[in-house]
Amino acid sequence: MRVLVTGGAGFIGSALVRYLVIDKGYDVLNVDALTYAGYLPSLRAVEGRPNYRFLHANICDSPAIIKAVSEFEPDRIMHLAAESHVDRSITGASDFIQTNVIGTFNLLEVAKDYWSRLGNDRKARFRFLHVSTDEVYGSLGAAGLFAENTPYDPSSPYSASKAGSDHLAKAWQRTYGLPVIVSNCSNNYGPYHFPEKLIPLTILNALAGERLPVYGNGENIRDWLYVEDHAQALDIIVDRGRIGETYNVGGRNERRNVDVVRRICDVLDRLSPANRPREELIEFVTDRPGHDARYAIDARKLEDELGWRAKENFETGIAKTVQWYLDNDWWWRPLRERYAGERLGLVRATNG
Ligand SMILES: NC(=O)c1ccc[n+]([C@@H]2O[C@H](COP(=O)([O-])OP(=O)(O)OC[C@H]3O[C@@H](n4cnc5c(N)ncnc54)[C@H](O)[C@@H]3O)[C@@H](O)[C@H]2O)c1
Repeated sequence: MRVLVTGGAGFIGSALVRYLVIDKGYDVLNVDALTYAGYLPSLRAVEGRPNYRFLHANICDSPAIIKAVSEFEPDRIMHLAAESHVDRSITGASDFIQTNVIGTFNLLEVAKDYWSRLGNDRKARFRFLHVSTDEVYGSLGAAGLFAENTPYDPSSPYSASKAGSDHLAKAWQRTYGLPVIVSNCSNNYGPYHFPEKLIPLTILNALAGERLPVYGNGENIRDWLYVEDHAQALDIIVDRGRIGETYNVGGRNERRNVDVVRRICDVLDRLSPANRPREELIEFVTDRPGHDARYAIDARKLEDELGWRAKENFETGIAKTVQWYLDNDWWWRPLRERYAGERLGLVRATNG
């Protein structure tokens, strides 16, 4: 099995690459532009393995992607490369449109040309998995879940660009017959997570005794999934999912942001006691503009049809994650020097 993964130096991409290379023994080509979010130390466990290769390339660079695909001859393309941070998309949306929309378009075009030239057997086996987010569905009220047929209603430049890319992926399937499947997942957390996102930022700030910013009143709810559960779901979806379908991925772990932060404080106080409870470091700060109130995934289609189940619940997953950050400062210290948690994504008020 030959799998081309885009964005494999990122958080979820590197978990997927480690899983495919080590656990599944597949041949993997990781194509990544190494933006601020791409970090090769996350791939230390697979470096030097004969079934793993890395290509430093941008998915918007057609000649480079055509060459990569024609030389590697993948059976599957799993597309994760993206600009992924909502706050950054508010500060500047251009890279989001470029990579998430134009880059996905480019990759679909290259995949279509490659797939259309394959012999019958390989053509029938080929799959393109477009990896997306539940944020395309917008915001939920107190009740209800996102199902695969929930209408798209994105709020941020990030989620709008992902929604655009999902539509392109679906259109390339319906119009050209490219064997595309789309997955929409809830918020991920776990090892190797870039410390600009809520959970790793909270862990590292709390360890350093620094303030723990919580947006707004902390009531916003996210549905958390341990990243290794997501990696396994993606492999199952591309393997057994039906062409043209969407599969929602989520672990039934809804938590208010403030409770997530409190939980991390509790776990850290237990594993690495400080002289005062870390909860005292919590500080409520100006809310994110357009902040979605609640996300929650109905993953029954993936569970019933393809037999996937999340192995971790939030309590087991967060304990593993905190322990991982305690044990692996070689990984995060250089990133903390580059990015110390400055606030992004605030919209300045304009007068008249
Ligand atoms: N993080 C989450 O909670 C979450 C949840 C659901 C879905 N997703 C989706 O999963 C995918 C991966 O998310 P992540 O959190 O690992 O993101 P990430 O930001 O950690 O990693 C993105 C990777 O893509 C690479 N990249 C960016 N632009 C590129 C380009 N033009 N060409 C090639 N490579 C490029 C980066 O270098 C980086 O390695 C994204 O498509 C994201 O929308 C993320």
